[in-house]
Amino acid sequence: MSSAFDYLDKNRERHLAELKELLAIPSVSTDSSRAKDVKRAADWVSKRLKKVGCKKVKVVPTERHPIVYGEWLGAPGKPTILVYGHYDVQPADPLELWDTPPFEPTLRDDRIYARGASDDKGQVITHVNALEAHLQNGGCPINVKFLIEGEEEIGSPNLESFIRENKSALACDGVVVSDTAMFSKDLPSICYGLRGLAYLEVHVKGTDRDLHSGSFGGAVVNPANALVQMLSALKDARGRISVPGFYDNVKRLTVSERRAFAALPHSDRKFRRAIGAPELDGESSYSTLERIWARPSLDINGIWGGFTGEGAKTVIPAEASAKISMRLVPHQTPNEIAKKVAGYLKKIAPKSVKLTVRNLHGGETWLTPTDHPTLLAASTAMKRAFGKTPVFVREGGSIPVVATFEKLLRVPTVLMGFGLNDDNLHAPNEKMELSNFYRGMQASAYLMEELGKADDGATQVGQRVRGKRARS
Ligand code: BES
Ligand code: MN
Ligand code: MN
Repeated sequence: MSSAFDYLDKNRERHLAELKELLAIPSVSTDSSRAKDVKRAADWVSKRLKKVGCKKVKVVPTERHPIVYGEWLGAPGKPTILVYGHYDVQPADPLELWDTPPFEPTLRDDRIYARGASDDKGQVITHVNALEAHLQNGGCPINVKFLIEGEEEIGSPNLESFIRENKSALACDGVVVSDTAMFSKDLPSICYGLRGLAYLEVHVKGTDRDLHSGSFGGAVVNPANALVQMLSALKDARGRISVPGFYDNVKRLTVSERRAFAALPHSDRKFRRAIGAPELDGESSYSTLERIWARPSLDINGIWGGFTGEGAKTVIPAEASAKISMRLVPHQTPNEIAKKVAGYLKKIAPKSVKLTVRNLHGGETWLTPTDHPTLLAASTAMKRAFGKTPVFVREGGSIPVVATFEKLLRVPTVLMGFGLNDDNLHAPNEKMELSNFYRGMQASAYLMEELGKADDGATQVGQRVRGKRARS
C-alpha cells in the first residue's frame, strides 16, 4: 500500500506547478470586479477534480460565487468523507508591502509565496492530490466528496442554503477541513474549537456638512469625538468588554482545558517578538492562548472620518464611521452579540448624533469532543505524515460553515490544518511551507487509508460518531 505515497513523492514537482496555476488566479471574493477571476478559479478546481478521477463534478452557480462539488464513490460499503475548503482569497492590498507580486507565486526558502498559498488553496489541494495518489495506485480506500466554495472570505452567504438543499447528496460520515494552522512548524495539530464572529459597521452623523472648527468648534458635536468616546466605552482598562450581558453565555474554561493549554510549548516572549509587539495586552487573569482560543474579544477593524490628507485642515467632520468585530466563544451567538453591542451603542450615543449600526455578517462558534473515531483516525494520519503525535488546539479564527455541517449533516468535523501562524494569512507575503504542502498530502492519503480500515461507513465510523455527538 505504499505506492500511493511513492506516487506523491514522485509527483511533487507537478503538484507544485499545478498549485502555482491556481495561485496565479486572483479569486478575491470581496471584490466584485474580480468575479470573472473567481469563476476562473472555480473552473480550474472543477477541471482538476475531473482530471484526478472524480466521477461527478459540478460548478454550481450561486447569487455570487460558484460552489464546486465533486465526488468519487468507488468504495461501496466504505466510509465517505466530505472535504470542505475554499478557493476564494482575501484582497492582496497593500500591494507595495509584498516582496513579490501576490498573484505571481514565487518559491523562496522552501516556501511558496502568494495570496491564498495557505488560506486556503494550498491546503485544500492536498486532499485532491491525495485522492489522485490513491486512484493512480489501485483505488481509494474510502469514498470522497469535495465541497469547495468561493465565498468563505465573505462569510459564506450562500453555502448554508446549498447544504440544506443538498443534504442527501452531501451525506457522509465525517467532514475534513484543512484551513487552520499547526501549533508550530514541527508540531502537527488537530483543532477542536473555533471562535465565532459578529461584525458591525457603525456610522455616526452630526451636522449636514463639514464645519469650520473655529467658527463652530466647542458649540456643536463632533461625530468623530462622539464615535471614539462610544467605542472606548466598550472595554474597560482590564480588557473586559463592558457591554451589558456580553459574557452571559460564555462557556467557562474547565480546569483540565486550562491545564492542557498551559502544557503546550507556547512562549509569550517568542509570540510577542514574532509580531513585533512591545508588550502583550488582553483580559487580565487569562493566558495568551486562553485569550485567543477561549475568550471573546472586541476589536476596531477600521475607523475613518474627517480629514486625513497632508498637513492640517481645521474642520469638524459631518460624519465618522468604524467597523468593529467581536470574536465569540461557545455558547455566544452572532445575533445575540450583535444585538447587545448595537443596543448598548444606541444607549450611550449622545443625543446630538444620529447613529446607524449595520450588521455585516457573522459566524457560529464551534467546539467538538476530542475523542471521536474520525478525529482519532486523523491523529494517526498526522502522526504518520509528520512523525509526531499531533496536539489538540483551538483557533481564534472562524470558519462559519463548520457549525453548519454539524447542525445539518450531523457528522463530526475534523480540522487538520497544514498552515502555520506565521503564514501571513490576510496579510502581505502570505506563504505556505512546501514541507507542509507535501506532508499535508501524505496526511490526507493516510487519513483515507485509516478510515478505510472501517469496513462499513454507515454502521461503523458513522454510527459510532453519531451516537457520540455531544454538546460541549
Ligand atoms: N482560514 C481562516 C480561518 C482561520 C484563521 C483559521 C486563523 C485559523 C486561524 C478563514 O479563511 C478566515 O479567514 N475566516 C474568517 C471568517 C470570516 C470572513 C467570516 C475569519 O476568521 O476572519
Ligand atoms: Mn481559510
Ligand atoms: Mn481567510
